Amino acid sequence: MDKIVIHGGERLVGEVAVSGSKNATLPIFASSLLAEGENRFYGVPDLNDVKTICEVLKNLGVKIGRGQGGDYLLDGTELAGHEAPYKLVKTMRASILVLGPLIARARRAVISLPGGCAIGARPINLHMKGLEKMGAEIQLRHGYIEAKTRGLRGADIYLDISTVTGTENLMMAAALAKGETVIENAATEPEVVDLAEVLNKMGGNISGAGSSIIRIKGVKQLTATEHTIIPDRIEAGTFMIAAGVTKGNIHIRNCKLDHMEAVVNKLREAGMEILREDDGTRAIGNKRIKSVDIKTLPYPGFPTDMQAQIMVLMTLARGLSVISETIFENRFVHVGELRRMGANIKIERSSAIIKGVKGLSGAPVMATDLRASASLVLAGLAAEGETEVSRVYHLDRGYEKLEEKLASLGAHIRRDPRK
Ligand code: EPU
Repeated sequence: MDKIVIHGGERLVGEVAVSGSKNATLPIFASSLLAEGENRFYGVPDLNDVKTICEVLKNLGVKIGRGQGGDYLLDGTELAGHEAPYKLVKTMRASILVLGPLIARARRAVISLPGGCAIGARPINLHMKGLEKMGAEIQLRHGYIEAKTRGLRGADIYLDISTVTGTENLMMAAALAKGETVIENAATEPEVVDLAEVLNKMGGNISGAGSSIIRIKGVKQLTATEHTIIPDRIEAGTFMIAAGVTKGNIHIRNCKLDHMEAVVNKLREAGMEILREDDGTRAIGNKRIKSVDIKTLPYPGFPTDMQAQIMVLMTLARGLSVISETIFENRFVHVGELRRMGANIKIERSSAIIKGVKGLSGAPVMATDLRASASLVLAGLAAEGETEVSRVYHLDRGYEKLEEKLASLGAHIRRDPRK
């Protein structure tokens, strides 16, 4: 299995470009199930999760090709199946994003129920409850969600928790339902807004995306469109922290700062300079890192997907910081590994209490989820000596060519496929 090997201590300097957002691409690709004709999507990141959603969609009859510039062509005119099998869903829970559009368009969907994952139990009860309100009949049998309907109709849906993929699933289902759907306490993440924009370009009638109340007037038919995926705000934040932990100076292109206010504020509070420039953002690490307290929250709060990475910065800060995780119940798997590298972190319930140390020391480490793996790479960049990060397949799910991009900034980092 591949490992990433890092010789830490290099100051990262130079320019890097952020890829398209993974979590915007996945629902947007799923939306191709709703439309007649061939969609063209630009700025799609080359990631294993994107390959997986393509497999799920091909299984349902979507034709997928590549344009000359690497853009993706997705044609869902003729759907040919209604099942997302266990073997695909178990590799990527976001496969559940086909449930909403499939039941709306094909009136039938059989989707393997995603199990828990390393970061939490992650139920999808709110996706199902919302679809039932819209007239879907749902049964759970042999590990599969079997959903059918004689036709979805608009409904008033209040989400107990502002679930991101739940909001996306319901928005896609409602786009072809009869009448108006109102989703209250909807997720406001930029990825939800990007999906709404695609659905509207397809001829949908959606307003309020980006606020907590989304109104969707169902239409009879949607037609394929073109769209450029928004930049990945989590990848951009990860590069900012790479500058922070190596006291580097990185110019980040394709970075939408408006999507990153909570992260940028915390990094500035920690002593970093984050500067808006004409064609991107400059992130400059400071010799002295200040400790800050952080609480993960739904957007526009501090994203849980940046929690592991900012924790690495805090391991090197002066003083104590407290990081509270409020979204997922088990998202501190990286803590034990960071401790192996010399970090001083104590966990109390859903909070990590971090006492800054002078430096980290390289060690063999492994992680069980995507963002935790990214945090270990960041720790390796800052550490003295060699760090070997194993289970790199987690990184490949969500970071495009991370080691190549970091190497171009001066990091001593390589992928070691032999070990
Ligand atoms: N929840 C429920 N019931 C539901 C749905 C969610 O109780 O029906 C709970 C979850 O257990 C969790 C909270 O609600 O405690 C929020 O979960 P949410 O549904 O918003 O998460 P998600 O849609 O499954 C997306 C991202 C995650 C990101 C979270 C939170 C995608 C494909 N995934 O997951 O991304 O952490 O939102 O922002 O968009 C990642 O990229 O590494 C990643 C895990």
